[in-house]
Amino acid sequence: MKDIFFIFLFSAWKFTSAQTNTSAPCKPVTLPSTRLRVTEKEAICLICNDSLYTKRNATEFSWRKNGNQDITSSEDQRIHHHGGALFFLPVLLNDTGVYSCNWQGPEQCANITFEVIVYEANPFNRSVLYTSIEEQVRNPGITCPDFAEGLCKGGKGTLVWYKDFKLIPNESEAKLRINDASKNDEGIYTCKCSWEHNGTIFNTSASRELKIKAPSVLYHPEIQSPKSNATETAELGSPKTLVCEVFFGYNVDDFCEVWWEINGKDKEKWESRYSENVTREVKDEASIQKAVLTISSVSESDFHSSFTCFAMNNHVWVNSSVFLKPRETIYTLIIVSTCVVLVFVLALVALTFFRIDLVLLFRGVFRMHRCPADGKIYDAYVIYQRHNLDKAVEEKMGRFVSTVLPDVLERKCGYRLFIHGRDDLPGEDHMELIETRMKLSRRLIVILTPGTGRGYEPGAVPEDYDRQVGLHHALVQGELRVILIELVKMDSYSHLPQGLQHLVLKSAPLRWKEERRKGHSPHSPHSRFWKHVRYMMPVPTVICARPRRHKTLKQKSPLEDQSPLSPMEVLP
Ligand SMILES: *[C@@H]1O[C@H](CO)[C@@H](O)[C@H](O)[C@H]1NC(C)=O
Ligand SMILES: *[C@@H]1O[C@H](CO)[C@@H](O)[C@H](O)[C@H]1NC(C)=O
Ligand SMILES: *[C@@H]1O[C@H](CO)[C@@H](O)[C@H](O)[C@H]1NC(C)=O
Ligand SMILES: *[C@@H]1O[C@H](CO)[C@@H](O)[C@H](O)[C@H]1NC(C)=O
Ligand SMILES: *[C@@H]1O[C@H](CO)[C@@H](O)[C@H](O)[C@H]1NC(C)=O
Ligand SMILES: *[C@@H]1O[C@H](CO)[C@@H](O)[C@H](O)[C@H]1NC(C)=O
Ligand SMILES: *[C@@H]1O[C@H](CO)[C@@H](O)[C@H](O)[C@H]1NC(C)=O
Ligand SMILES: *[C@@H]1O[C@H](CO)[C@@H](O)[C@H](O)[C@H]1NC(C)=O
Ligand SMILES: *[C@@H]1O[C@H](CO)[C@@H](O)[C@H](O)[C@H]1NC(C)=O
Ligand SMILES: *[C@@H]1O[C@H](CO)[C@@H](O)[C@H](O)[C@H]1NC(C)=O
Ligand SMILES: *[C@@H]1O[C@H](CO)[C@@H](O)[C@H](O)[C@H]1NC(C)=O
Ligand SMILES: *[C@@H]1O[C@H](CO)[C@@H](O)[C@H](O)[C@H]1NC(C)=O
Repeated sequence: MKDIFFIFLFSAWKFTSAQTNTSAPCKPVTLPSTRLRVTEKEAICLICNDSLYTKRNATEFSWRKNGNQDITSSEDQRIHHHGGALFFLPVLLNDTGVYSCNWQGPEQCANITFEVIVYEANPFNRSVLYTSIEEQVRNPGITCPDFAEGLCKGGKGTLVWYKDFKLIPNESEAKLRINDASKNDEGIYTCKCSWEHNGTIFNTSASRELKIKAPSVLYHPEIQSPKSNATETAELGSPKTLVCEVFFGYNVDDFCEVWWEINGKDKEKWESRYSENVTREVKDEASIQKAVLTISSVSESDFHSSFTCFAMNNHVWVNSSVFLKPRETIYTLIIVSTCVVLVFVLALVALTFFRIDLVLLFRGVFRMHRCPADGKIYDAYVIYQRHNLDKAVEEKMGRFVSTVLPDVLERKCGYRLFIHGRDDLPGEDHMELIETRMKLSRRLIVILTPGTGRGYEPGAVPEDYDRQVGLHHALVQGELRVILIELVKMDSYSHLPQGLQHLVLKSAPLRWKEERRKGHSPHSPHSRFWKHVRYMMPVPTVICARPRRHKTLKQKSPLEDQSPLSPMEVLP
């Protein structure tokens, strides 16, 4: 124990010895309290105060735990004091507490407190670490803290070193040297002293962490943002921040600076709505500085200003400018999208209402003529009732079929029609004629007339045969497209054959009005009615070589009927 006592004699004997005069009033010396974090089951020693300890009579010291438990000086106790030194041989978890050392000198007195916190040995608690060492040098040294190293010296113990709790062989110096330090050498280094007291071996250890810092490397300052001459959006009246981030190198402690200038003016000359905040940070040892320029409220003038970030170190300075432009607000977005929708709707409306005009215009503009390769001769076969009609209707029918229809469709529009009573050759067999002519036609025009009140009698009129054949082609074989025209307003279609009624349901008949409208004669192919008829008619033909009559009449769907033709088929 005496040995340990002498550890502390290395301190200078600063105080001159004074006579013991217990009656003298004490002049208290206030000393800072110390906090100690230690590991359980190790030997520890608290020194009241180096200078007091060495100069004084041991009887002048007394120790207490938590202010009320006196600690003995009897050496056979686990915790005892030896004058100014308090020993824990070893320290246990429940020793955690506040220990106070009272020194009552002849002229002075002191009360020094220690807060001792004991941690479990396993797992290792990082709280017991001494200050870590951050080194940039090639060969850093780690010194064993006095706490452990002092006991080793005084107690003639042996010192060993551990790295991350693994023994480093043949190291017993108080200062551990590491050669050519690299990242691999980082870790927790522990010096452990084993010393003997009255036949018992005690351990005292202290740990600290080593961090290897890469050597300082100064770079040409690099403005990472903003990119040079960049443009950022801002909203008028709103706040806006511009961030300038500059990389200066690694572990740089040199003089480095970052700042913003507005139109070449620095901070001192700014309006009050601008402010700047510069911060330094180290990310993975990279030295980065940020200058944040805050505009409390963006004004119109900011859209014509230049915001330049400058960065400099001891050697160079660089700059990067950024410009502001107004952001497209939500209102402009709304207006643009409304316009798009409106245009779309208008286009849709136009397409719906002017479909017919557009198609006709298209045919006209692109001179879409076709040369029928379908072997057909007639563009339309016209069916109408010739008998059993009211007088007025019969007259109207005569006018329409013999004058208006040929005038508009044939003369003005270049269609070729087959009209009964006009185009049938005398002597031809009626049945055969209908059959073949119909097969040679591309459309079937059915002119509807109101019932006569006499009821519908199948076979009562010769035209019924036309109708039957035509409807057969149109409905059953799907060959012919039908154009329904009504001459007078019809309230009911119930007198018509079933097939026709079906067609009427599918598409409403076109109503022909004889009245003359201003600007348009009823014979004008540009009246609403005729446009509609022309729209439903095939594309007008040019005069082509006569197809071989009656030969191999291929059955074609009405859609194929309108297929575009190769130019080869069109005559010059
Ligand atoms: C103690 O010190 C005081 C002065 O500080 C002195 O007067 C007194 O005689 C001393 N007593 C003894 C026993 O030395
Ligand atoms: C010991 O006490 C002296 C004054 O008496 C003081 O200056 C010194 O800092 C103290 N040492 C410690 C380690 O508290
Ligand atoms: C220490 O004090 C005791 C009594 O208080 C005294 O007998 C002894 O001589 C003193 N020792 C020294 C070295 O002053
Ligand atoms: C010393 O300080 C401790 C804690 O501050 C206190 O509990 C104790 O009473 C003090 N002792 C003396 C003698 O002043
Ligand atoms: C030393 O240890 C022995 C037993 O091992 C014990 O009897 C004795 O009291 C101890 N001495 C001291 C000073 O602690
Ligand atoms: C502390 O714990 C030890 C054993 O774990 C026990 O012997 C001792 O009495 C305890 N001390 C106190 C003050 O509780
Ligand atoms: C270290 O000790 C503190 C306080 O006793 C505890 O909260 C923490 O969990 C311990 N850490 C480990 C790793 O044991
Ligand atoms: C440690 O020292 C001993 C004796 O000095 C030697 O034999 C041994 O090789 C050394 N070990 C290492 C790892 O240097
Ligand atoms: C002291 O440390 C050694 C290893 O370094 C260990 O074997 C021994 O048990 C320890 N002693 C005590 C009392 O903890
Ligand atoms: C940015 O603009 C300035 C002036 O308009 C020009 O001198 C400079 O070269 C530009 N910088 C880059 C990187 O384009
Ligand atoms: C500057 O920025 C830092 C980090 O973002 C922040 O903690 C600090 O309060 C700011 N200072 C001012 C004056 O705004
Ligand atoms: C900013 O940097 C450019 C080169 O990138 C340089 O031409 C210009 O003079 C600098 N502006 C200032 C104000 O230093």
